[in-house]
Amino acid sequence: MLPNRAFCYLKPKDGSWMAMTVELTIDGKKITTSEDKTILEAARENGIYIPTLCYHSKLSPIGSCRLCVVEIEGVEHPMASCTTPVAPNIVVTTKSEKLDKIRRDALKLMLVNHPLDCPICDAGGECDLQNMVFQFGIDQVEYKANKVEREEIPFSTPLIRHWPNRCILCGRCVWACREITGNNVLEIAEKGYDSHIEAIYPEKCLSCGECLSVCPVGALTDNLSPIKARKWQAKRTLTTCNHCSVGCQLEINTFEDKLINITTKESEGTNNGSLCVKGRFGHDYIHSEERLKQALIRKREDLIPTDIDEAISFAAKKIGEIKEKYGSDAFAGVGSVHLSNEENYIFQRFVRSVIGTNNIDSLASLIFEPLSEALIPVLGMGLMTNPLNDLLLSDVAIVIGTDLDGDHQIVANKLRWAAYHNDLKPVIVDPREISLSKGFANVWMRPKPSTDTVWINGLIREIISRGLEDKDFIKKHTKGFESLKKFVEQFTPEKVEEITGIDQKDLKDAAQLFGEAKAGAIIFGSGIIGQNDSVSAIRSLGHLALITGNLGKRGGGLYPILPRCNTQGAWDMGLNPLYFPGYQPVTDDGAIKRFKKLWGLPIKNEKGLSLVDIFLKASEGKIKAMIIMGENPLVTFPDSSLVKKAIKNLEFLVVIDSFLTETAELADIVIPGVTFAEKDGTFTSCERRIQRVRAGLKPLGESMADWEIIAKISEMMGHPMNFSTPKDIFDEIAKVTSCYGNITYEQLDEKGGAWCYLGKTPRLFEDGFPGGKANFLTDDIKLPQKKENKEFPISLTVGGNFYNYLIGSKTKRAKGLALVYPDNFVLINDEDADKKGIKDGDMVVIKTENGELSLPARVNSNIIPGVAHLKISFNDIDVGKLFKADKAIVPYKIVNASIEKA
Ligand code: SF4
Ligand code: SF4
Ligand code: SF4
Ligand code: FES
Repeated sequence: MLPNRAFCYLKPKDGSWMAMTVELTIDGKKITTSEDKTILEAARENGIYIPTLCYHSKLSPIGSCRLCVVEIEGVEHPMASCTTPVAPNIVVTTKSEKLDKIRRDALKLMLVNHPLDCPICDAGGECDLQNMVFQFGIDQVEYKANKVEREEIPFSTPLIRHWPNRCILCGRCVWACREITGNNVLEIAEKGYDSHIEAIYPEKCLSCGECLSVCPVGALTDNLSPIKARKWQAKRTLTTCNHCSVGCQLEINTFEDKLINITTKESEGTNNGSLCVKGRFGHDYIHSEERLKQALIRKREDLIPTDIDEAISFAAKKIGEIKEKYGSDAFAGVGSVHLSNEENYIFQRFVRSVIGTNNIDSLASLIFEPLSEALIPVLGMGLMTNPLNDLLLSDVAIVIGTDLDGDHQIVANKLRWAAYHNDLKPVIVDPREISLSKGFANVWMRPKPSTDTVWINGLIREIISRGLEDKDFIKKHTKGFESLKKFVEQFTPEKVEEITGIDQKDLKDAAQLFGEAKAGAIIFGSGIIGQNDSVSAIRSLGHLALITGNLGKRGGGLYPILPRCNTQGAWDMGLNPLYFPGYQPVTDDGAIKRFKKLWGLPIKNEKGLSLVDIFLKASEGKIKAMIIMGENPLVTFPDSSLVKKAIKNLEFLVVIDSFLTETAELADIVIPGVTFAEKDGTFTSCERRIQRVRAGLKPLGESMADWEIIAKISEMMGHPMNFSTPKDIFDEIAKVTSCYGNITYEQLDEKGGAWCYLGKTPRLFEDGFPGGKANFLTDDIKLPQKKENKEFPISLTVGGNFYNYLIGSKTKRAKGLALVYPDNFVLINDEDADKKGIKDGDMVVIKTENGELSLPARVNSNIIPGVAHLKISFNDIDVGKLFKADKAIVPYKIVNASIEKA
């Protein structure tokens, strides 16, 4: 298989892909290129045009359309240049009468069956067939073949409409679904005149729209577009997806200030032109009828519409009064993992300087608290170490605690690419059967929940016992290896199997694979980060990466996958009680002096309250006022009962949001913010790439960007901030933080983003570890306690379809998402269900120490006994009430439960 051309720039430096060069002649021009190129690629590289229709740079050559034919000296028949590799000294002609006739005939044959409905076709104006027919000046089709009328049949997803009569059977959709999504949903069915595209496995369709995006004509169209407009009428604004943290680049297509649809540019972003269902079809919430257009103020029991300036002025006055009466620390600010860096920066500046407290946090702390506690003492940083495109170079990847196709499909696509083109061997660790465990994994381990620390240390032991550890790396870059070796001795394969349920052979196979890997990646999600012993498990993963020398290496690395679009940015911007922006401790005299000078106000030199403590103290009546900006903790925080109690005890709550969320309904003042499509700024993705967010639409009604609202409140409290645009705020961020230092807004525009923690490369630790060496630290590693819980015997894990858990306010208002992922359910192992008389489809009651929920059950063997999985779709469901938050690190993915038939 030829390497995918789009990724050739990523060839490893070690020369493992180094192809020999060859010389050939195309249209009289002498060309030198590498032997793994096709004639088409060699021509394109050298500015020689060859027409194509079925060729797509992201896909393996298909060779179906015959438009790219060329003549090769000494070869009798013209050859398709997209499928013919270059060869030494061949002489190629790309233009001749003979070739012109073949190309014209191919086009005419396509037109025999193609309706001339360009005036009503969505692709009109941007259709490759239309362009080719125009280019070849074909004004009539003289062939008298019978026209085949193909019946319209439903496609694999209701989000895409299939127009079979427009299909030119190029095969791109079939190839894209197979090679990029790994799903094989589509195929070209039947032969000859009866050939057509058919969804043979519609149940496997992820609704990602990859097929739609590669279709060169209007045979697949977006079935969700609320507004119709011609391609040339649409305004395209390149921006960053505001759902998950991958940070895909996409274009908002708008007409008359309304979103038409979402498209992509292959050249932009880590997504390389792909999107998941949320990115492609999950943005119509922007025009939801439920958007807030006006501010609201509480009059007795009701929230009454009011003028936005009045609302801001009232908020400023009231905050001032509460500060005066109770002091600064009676106030707390909750920022957001889906607002921009600029908004979060200005928010923390306001809370720290104008109010005068460090009581500020966001949901990012649920992720970064365990990451930091686990990895900073070992590595010096608790972040994703490598860019996501490094996964294309990995030869083994361990994926733990995330259903990547559901949570971050773009990352799963990269693994599929690497498996297809680079022989990557995946090791999937999940107690559930997920798409990557079926037919894709080389090894699939199914540990019991909360036993990850045990199997990871068992893997380390096995790697060391086989002599597969990277001795040079350990010697040069680490301290404490002997104590690690001693520590892991206890984790024999037998003991690992006894505690975790993982088959000894699987553990050994995984150890052999990962130990031998040239570049091994470790990808882990909230299944690890949000579990009970997350710190011990993550620290053990750090050790695993170290003993195998997989840090500071292309294709190696630790990849914690973050949930929301700006989780990383929120943490970087100092939305936490311990650090100013750029991780400068709030207790550091130098930092206090610098920020005091810059902000012109006194700054507190004491740590503030974490998110959990903010809600705990508020529930005790010790926090009197709060601003919640762009967050809906009543749904997104793991303990909704605590949040309810906390809010009830507040004297004053301001909520800034684009919807009247469950939290906003309890506020005293609600100020309408804008969505990502209506504002400028930056997000920082999970791979630490700072990317631009650009406004494609005007703010709705009286709504304003959250940064403007905060700046106005500050001004009304007597402290103008003097920012006119998000760029001004970014300039200040770049001035006060080293990780965003030396980056300009203009650079972000020109270069499509910049890496924070720049160093020389986007890869951490390529130049060594902070402090010289990494540490193996085993003293604090806790092992799971064997405790039988008779009342709540089931380990209930929680996850969303596409990360809806801990989100909700936008995705649940995206009509397309609700259409394809409508159901919440709890997955129960058939043996467990049998014991309780529960059948597939029955309603069940899930109880935990903290609350209960009723849901339909799905019963099968896709999950191991003793474990259940609550799968949340894009609907309202108060999962938070099942959890308890009473410490800084909150296990929000797993809880002990009982499940009974309702
Ligand atoms: S939407 Fe995605 S998964 Fe479904 S058929 Fe198209 S490419 Fe395949
Ligand atoms: S639906 Fe589009 S991409 Fe698929 S074969 Fe037909 S024309 Fe090609
Ligand atoms: S993978 Fe994440 S960033 Fe990319 S389109 Fe999907 S939700 Fe958006
Ligand atoms: S582009 Fe080569 S055969 Fe279609």
